[in-house]
Amino acid sequence: MVNNKIFTTEDGSHSMFSQKHGVSYHSKHGAIQETEHVFIQAGFHHQLPSSSLSILDIGFGTGLNAYMTYLEAEKQKVKVNYMGIEAFPITLDAAEKLNFSELLQQDNSVFQNLHILSWGESHSISEYFTFEKRQTRFEYLDFKEQFDVIYFDAFAPNAQPELWEENILQNMFDALKPNGVLTTYCAKGVVKRTFKKVGFTIEAIPGPPGKREMTRALKI
Ligand SMILES: C[S@@+](CC[C@H](N)C(=O)[O-])C[C@H]1O[C@@H](n2cnc3c(N)ncnc32)[C@H](O)[C@@H]1O
Repeated sequence: MVNNKIFTTEDGSHSMFSQKHGVSYHSKHGAIQETEHVFIQAGFHHQLPSSSLSILDIGFGTGLNAYMTYLEAEKQKVKVNYMGIEAFPITLDAAEKLNFSELLQQDNSVFQNLHILSWGESHSISEYFTFEKRQTRFEYLDFKEQFDVIYFDAFAPNAQPELWEENILQNMFDALKPNGVLTTYCAKGVVKRTFKKVGFTIEAIPGPPGKREMTRALKI
């Protein structure tokens, strides 16, 4: 378990700074804004209308992507099967201090549950949200055509270049169903070229506040 320092981003929501990797978990311009823009709007909403979606979250971290997806699943009445992957979970103490549910004007219990629930098992959180988290490294993933959406939220290529290499992006491509979509905040040229190399069709779309571009990668 890692006990990283919590800080407040510009939209008032918390994020964490990873001592191990020397980077923050979210944009300093706003953690909630970033998740809403990069993953909920550009990823989840791209696959609507649909009555169900399976979503792979590459970097469960603070649980913000998972939590906001749960809220969106309830709002849109879409049945979501969610899988979060994380090698270095944060402590329960740290999770208790995060202010996401307060800012999103929600009761804190579901958010806390995402952290408390056991790893490696499927949990029914609500009629619309089934959740599993696995404590493993991204490098070991071996899914085949299982997901409609991937949130690729690893630390940036300058912090963890090995997680943006061809073999990892190939695993992401293989994990998606045909017509699946991957979104990431990263818009680096070399990363976009690697996405193309493994078979994705790339869209460079406007990024969240503070970022000109982000990437949406389609498995067409
Ligand atoms: C940018 S942060 C994710 C932010 C997260 N989506 C959130 O909302 O808090 C990247 C995450 O990847 C995790 N991570 C780093 N290297 C990893 C690896 N090799 N395998 C699995 N997880 C890793 C980090 O611990 C961190 O939680």
